Amino acid sequence: MIKIDYTNAMAETIGERDGILREELLSFRHFVVETHSLIQKEKERKFFFCKLPYQDTTQIKEFAQHIREKFDYFVVIGIGGSSLGAKMLFESLTDFNYNIQEKPKFFLLENVDPEKFDSILGQIDIKKTCFNVVTKSGSTVETIANFSIILSMLKKELGDRYREHLVFTTDPEKGFLRKLGQSEGIKMFDIPPKVGGRFSVLSPVGLLPAAVLGIDIDQLLSGARKMDLVCSIEEHVEHNPAYLIALIHYITNMRRGKSISVMMPYAEKLASFVDWYRQLWAESLGKDGLGQTPVKAIGTVDQHSQIQLYRDGIRDKIITFIQVDKMSTDFKIPDELPEDIAYLTGHSLHEILNKELLGTKAALIKSKVPNITVILDEINPYNIGMLVYMYELATGFSGYLYKINPFDQPAVEEGKNFTYALMGRKGYENKLEEFKELYREKYRIEIQ
Ligand code: PA5
Repeated sequence: MIKIDYTNAMAETIGERDGILREELLSFRHFVVETHSLIQKEKERKFFFCKLPYQDTTQIKEFAQHIREKFDYFVVIGIGGSSLGAKMLFESLTDFNYNIQEKPKFFLLENVDPEKFDSILGQIDIKKTCFNVVTKSGSTVETIANFSIILSMLKKELGDRYREHLVFTTDPEKGFLRKLGQSEGIKMFDIPPKVGGRFSVLSPVGLLPAAVLGIDIDQLLSGARKMDLVCSIEEHVEHNPAYLIALIHYITNMRRGKSISVMMPYAEKLASFVDWYRQLWAESLGKDGLGQTPVKAIGTVDQHSQIQLYRDGIRDKIITFIQVDKMSTDFKIPDELPEDIAYLTGHSLHEILNKELLGTKAALIKSKVPNITVILDEINPYNIGMLVYMYELATGFSGYLYKINPFDQPAVEEGKNFTYALMGRKGYENKLEEFKELYREKYRIEIQ
């Protein structure tokens, strides 16, 4: 179960300068009804991610079981939308000690940082490792570079049997990886062509790694289906969680100057959920001079690092707290404490976590900083499925509010294209010329 408490984003609580008037929220009702019907029609096209919760997972589960039985290590090679979802599911839905206690041990090769690469190689035995190469385009430099090195190592170690250690997740028709997979006879899963990277966690991109890690992917999809059902039926802004989240952020951004959206879970397991959200919100909505900068914080740790700024610094933030009502374990503070700290006796760590959240919210109300709280009864696949779907739909809906296309990423492509040119990729010669025109190293300082 999830709840959303938005009392502290409302003018009634924090005043009209920073908070939203209820009438203001309701004034969007015609827009919401119209957009709702557009979204329902777009579910076969731009909003195709809405279909993912209804897919058949049999093949994914069967192949995941094969990997679990055959391999000691499982490495995802991918980046951005092709890695953040798997990382988020791993960190939120497996035990903190998963890699110490469980098998196959899980690693992500995202960056092209040779030291990180070397560290992962040092922790796996390539002969007992399955590599899941994930790339929608089939050509992202980081992924292809990391994969090429692994491929040559696999061939050297295993000869023709290297194929058995690979599984590709990519576009069903296009791209280098698809071609390679077809010619080499490598097991492949499809990323639906209409689903972009950051909306792909509920496709095999996230589901295969999750199933390998023993996560109940049917529960994950069941939560997403529940959210889809609620959001498909409810056209009233106050009853539709995705539209509500989108509108609260849009109004506070465009009418109250809150250009930063902080997400601060009071549960360490949800740290990667924020990384996933950060990409979704930033890459989808950061267009045409618009968008809100997503910022990651963790409660309570960042109370001791960031809250000074959030309360008393520039008034440009809206904060989303995530509260977890029940954790898998808890520890009581012992009796017989010295008098100065005796107030802690009888309380537990989880209780302190949530009391600190309450204290922080009260302090923010005093400073009139808008904040909302997403409350999970516990962290489980069903709730994460709901949360994922809710934020994806909120992002898609926000595209209509901001009048931008939330499903492309032209500014990311531009950087990728310059990199291709710099690496000498054929067909990018003009980009190299453009780079030389643009790029200077004129003002520098050097300290030895
Ligand atoms: O959301 C996106 O589209 C991007 O973040 C991509 O996922 C990322 O650039 C990786 O692309 P690809 O999956 O094509 O390797």
